[in-house]
Amino acid sequence: MSHYVKDVLIPRAEIAKVVDDLARRISDDYAGQEIVMVGVLKGSFIFLADLVRKITVPVVIDFMSVSSYYGGTKSSGVVKIIKDMDTDIQGKHVIIVEDIIDSGLTLNHLKDLLLTREPASLRVCAAFDKPERRKISISADYLGMPIPDEFIIGYGLDFDGQYRNLPDVCILAIDGGNE
Ligand code: PRP
Repeated sequence: MSHYVKDVLIPRAEIAKVVDDLARRISDDYAGQEIVMVGVLKGSFIFLADLVRKITVPVVIDFMSVSSYYGGTKSSGVVKIIKDMDTDIQGKHVIIVEDIIDSGLTLNHLKDLLLTREPASLRVCAAFDKPERRKISISADYLGMPIPDEFIIGYGLDFDGQYRNLPDVCILAIDGGNE
């Protein structure tokens, strides 16, 4: 099976504007407070790096690595923690940072888990969202932009571990598909 970059869906300049806008909103909303921003590895690493450099309030950065697995039915998806964060978030203002929300199952379980640690507040910031793919009702408090249900790569998003470094969000073509 071969695959290649078909089209640019979101050019880097547009992504930069979206990141600027999100950082401005977050900085305004958390004025006078400190935020713990938790990047969900691996996909969020580029978005998080861009976002935090534009935020003007104090930020503590941490990461979690999770793996979703769907034993039995897809709707029973649970998240396995591969790497937990090091920061104690009790009483802290926490924002989970995701590159993309798809079914919503990863985020749903992550939110449930982090809420048991009694943060002062818990919100979600996602760069991209595929609302058509949702299996559970959940949304980002801060969303970059909704996108169509295409296989996208770049800006942290991968196909089989590749393409995360592309500066634009692109559509992947896989030979044998309908291209
Ligand atoms: C992606 C993305 C989210 C999750 C969203 O991660 O970063 O964590 O999938 O999907 P969901 O809404 O259907 O749960 P992925 O599992 O591809 O890992 P990666 O970030 O390491 O690429």
